[in-house]
Amino acid sequence: MKPAILVVRAIFPEVLEKLSEHFDVESNQDDVVFTPAELAHKLKGKAGAMTTASARINEDLLQQLPDLKMVANMAVGYDNFDLAACRAHGVLASNTPDVLNETTADFGWALMMATARRITESEHWLRAGEWKKWRYDYFLGPDIHGSTLGIIGMGRIGQAIARRSIGFNMKVVYHNRSRLSPDNEAYANNATYLEKEDLLRQADHVVLVLPYSPASHHTIAAAELAIMKPTATLVNLARGGIVDDVALIGALRERRIAAAGLDVFENEPKFHPDFLELSNVVLTPHIASASEATRRAMANCAADNLIAGLSGKTPPNLLTTA
Ligand code: GLV
Repeated sequence: MKPAILVVRAIFPEVLEKLSEHFDVESNQDDVVFTPAELAHKLKGKAGAMTTASARINEDLLQQLPDLKMVANMAVGYDNFDLAACRAHGVLASNTPDVLNETTADFGWALMMATARRITESEHWLRAGEWKKWRYDYFLGPDIHGSTLGIIGMGRIGQAIARRSIGFNMKVVYHNRSRLSPDNEAYANNATYLEKEDLLRQADHVVLVLPYSPASHHTIAAAELAIMKPTATLVNLARGGIVDDVALIGALRERRIAAAGLDVFENEPKFHPDFLELSNVVLTPHIASASEATRRAMANCAADNLIAGLSGKTPPNLLTTA
């Protein structure tokens, strides 16, 4: 008999087919977002689950699921997993690193450029029929080229963002839990390590790509926004909760920084409604990795991890051993 698994959210049909060769698959192609109680109910008797960031895998859930052996997240971030609880219950956990680095770095640039050069704001104005003439000072914003790019979280995605800045003749400064090797700093456009406060004072464009954890909660809050340049932009590609959204709304409203580009939000998809009142913020619905090829690669990566883990092999992207 094949082991039973749950694919928690809708997914590419060919990935379901691949999983069906190995497992008795319960899918959710209607893409219902389960409550914790519904998720526990659906996972009863399952050996594995392919999850996304909306599924919280914690002690409370795992206590109810003695048959569960593995959870495979279709995301590089895994703050929805309590790894200590997974370990305690002998549940393997995996994520999907690397396959999304370049696509996410592309999107970081798209968001930074749209934010600095006011692309969505000016398009909304044009669509609203406001464009009657050209004026020298319409939609002025800060330059990207020749400016200082500050990256907080200099992992593989951060380094890919930094590398793209070579063509824009930018200076790169970064802050990270640990300093990169000289080789990696050279690869990342000769990035210079700074303490977070120094980076915030110096950078013209700040990009956040660090993982969420209790330690990175509100890495950018009122005190950090206060020391940024009034002409600076801030982009969050990482996770909601890394930025204090209420503090950011205050800073944007009072123009204490120029603008922000946000792909992630506290409590998403229920983001703070005041963002909608601000013209100096670009808002996207958590799509940084959403190129066709990359989302397929992530889904296949999660499936391959699950297939390996439930057949007694080491999953390629194992986060925790049982
Ligand atoms: C997306 O947010 C991811 O963590 O892959």
